[in-house]
Amino acid sequence: MRYPLFVTDGHPGGRKPRTPTRRSFLRGSAAAFFVTVAGGVLAACGGGVARREVPLGSFGGKIPVEKDQIPAPGGEPVLIPGGRFWLLNLKPGEGDIKKVGGAGGLIALYTKCPHAGCQVPWQAEFDGANVNQPGIIGWFRCPCHLSTFSRAGILVSGPSSRPMSTMPITVLQDGSLHVDTSKITAGLAENPKRTVPYAG
Ligand code: FES
Repeated sequence: MRYPLFVTDGHPGGRKPRTPTRRSFLRGSAAAFFVTVAGGVLAACGGGVARREVPLGSFGGKIPVEKDQIPAPGGEPVLIPGGRFWLLNLKPGEGDIKKVGGAGGLIALYTKCPHAGCQVPWQAEFDGANVNQPGIIGWFRCPCHLSTFSRAGILVSGPSSRPMSTMPITVLQDGSLHVDTSKITAGLAENPKRTVPYAG
């Protein structure tokens, strides 16, 4: 069987019928078959490459936090190393340096400094008077270039361009938590409004 194709071959007037050889016809058929099969496989996978599920407890997925790890309201921040976040239970207004109206509750702050990625430690003894915030003791203070953040991750000093990033928290029925490290959100002055109420 022959299938006429129309190609531009430079002849005056343009197009001249051409018939494929048996070899080119077979090559074309094989390519069409491959495209059809590949399309079917992709469709079976939901139209794309399947995403790998991150196991519970691994960074990049949900990190469980037991009830007894959760600080009391106003208590010292707790580091959850596997999740790379600080967990705080803020009193109303605590760490709300810009006065956006923080109602208090749980907040998870990513330990990675927004400036250049160093790990930001909690400095319980650091006096806010050193960064024009007298009367407040205890700050997150990056050792690399000294960006300083409140308990709500609000930037008050240093070269960072923004507050500390946050992660969503889900409170489970038994009072434990899941913190979703796959959804890290860049910090903003509104950080104190990202808290989750916690009744224990
Ligand atoms: S990396 Fe933290 S202030 Fe530069």
